[in-house]
Amino acid sequence: MKNSKHKTSDRMQWFQEARFGISLHFGLYTIPARGEWVRSSERMTVDEYQKYFDSFNPDKDCCREWAKLAKKAGAKYCVLTTKHHDGFCLFDTKLSEYSSINSPAKRDIVKEYVEACREEGLKVGLYYSLVDWHHPDYPAFGDRQHPLRHDPDSKERDKNCVWEKYLEYMHGQVMELMSNYGKIDLMVFDFSYWDFIGEKWNASELVRKIRKLQPDILINDRLGCEAIKEANPPAYVGDYDQSEQDIPREPVKNKKGENIPWESWFTVNNSWCFDPNDRNFKTPSNIIRALVNCVSKGGNLLLNMSPDAKGHINRPTVELLENVGAWLDKNGESIYGCRIADFAKPEWGRFTQKGNILYAHLFEQVVGHVNLPGMRGAVKDGRLLANGTEVIICDYWNPGIQTFDSPDDIFFNIGKPTAFTFPLPDRSDTVIRVELTDEKEKKMLKEEYQEDFKTSIRRVPF
Ligand code: GLC
Repeated sequence: MKNSKHKTSDRMQWFQEARFGISLHFGLYTIPARGEWVRSSERMTVDEYQKYFDSFNPDKDCCREWAKLAKKAGAKYCVLTTKHHDGFCLFDTKLSEYSSINSPAKRDIVKEYVEACREEGLKVGLYYSLVDWHHPDYPAFGDRQHPLRHDPDSKERDKNCVWEKYLEYMHGQVMELMSNYGKIDLMVFDFSYWDFIGEKWNASELVRKIRKLQPDILINDRLGCEAIKEANPPAYVGDYDQSEQDIPREPVKNKKGENIPWESWFTVNNSWCFDPNDRNFKTPSNIIRALVNCVSKGGNLLLNMSPDAKGHINRPTVELLENVGAWLDKNGESIYGCRIADFAKPEWGRFTQKGNILYAHLFEQVVGHVNLPGMRGAVKDGRLLANGTEVIICDYWNPGIQTFDSPDDIFFNIGKPTAFTFPLPDRSDTVIRVELTDEKEKKMLKEEYQEDFKTSIRRVPF
């Protein structure tokens, strides 16, 4: 685009600095609490599902609770399901009766959520399902996910489906979301499948209209599937690659070999929607390390939590997120605004980097001092990020007697003698803030070492 303000890299900036977001799945399916696909998995008709509509009434202020918790967890942005595949809308829409306004809640949940996010200084993201099991013009028969896929009546019904009508509805609702809630930072579409992909959604037109109303908005890549990795992707592919319940092994690249922005999206337990029986919660350590893993590869983490039918977040989720938040409170500097480091992944953990500061994330209790491979001359100073304590930058503890991997390696330890093993202060991730040298300092330090080595000063282990 001509206006440089709206160049992809400019509008991506906040996202790539934020690194950590919270998503919420909330809707009618929250009441049966057997998965957000419950209408599909149990093949319910609209009538059978109606009882959830008739009793949808979350407590007041639930959105505030979500935003406060997201903030406390250290997240910088949120994403809420404004409409999931069941078609129920959490927002005031002129295009459908099937919304929270007409349920006993009589409230625009999206409005409350947007306001709550803004109060907490969180960027605002909206999820919108491309798939719609409620709309009369969305085909059902034979669709691998539609609740009525096996119903012979669907076959007849589908004959009268007018796809253009559905597109008009879907585009219209997205325009409502883009027009009625002020600045929206992130639009998350879900999802494309079979030939329901790309221009079947009239995707170029949709993205054009969205960007006209919200020029700085970021859009995920699910109007297509993987098309964002093409050498010359179509405009509708959006701004970033989004994977689900998985962290890519390597930084995500397009076919030209360029790194592209990406986000890994996964759940606090195994469910997107509230399920009281799913107690498979990840630990704070799991989440912290996953977040570091993402950032070390230039990606973001979007962590999903699910409110219950009254809109509240259960204890295990709260505790988990508070623990992650407490870690980020002390160590956030090694996450926010960080990128792929200039040094390869170390054996004992991961690196992240910001300018000339390298963050060494120690996941593993190593034996003796910690190896910094190939980093001789590169390190000026090291401190424990959480409390500012100096760490000892040192040489191999016994170079005269034993050999070590490379003379270009150096070491550090959090205590002396440097050959000793000291328990890591943070078992989830102890972060060392390493100040890197510039080229001149690097050369000097290397020369100093050569001199020292000749005169064997450094052979004294401590
Ligand atoms: C999966 C789930 C869907 C959920 C989405 C989030 O595709 O099936 O319900 O909204 O993940 O990415």
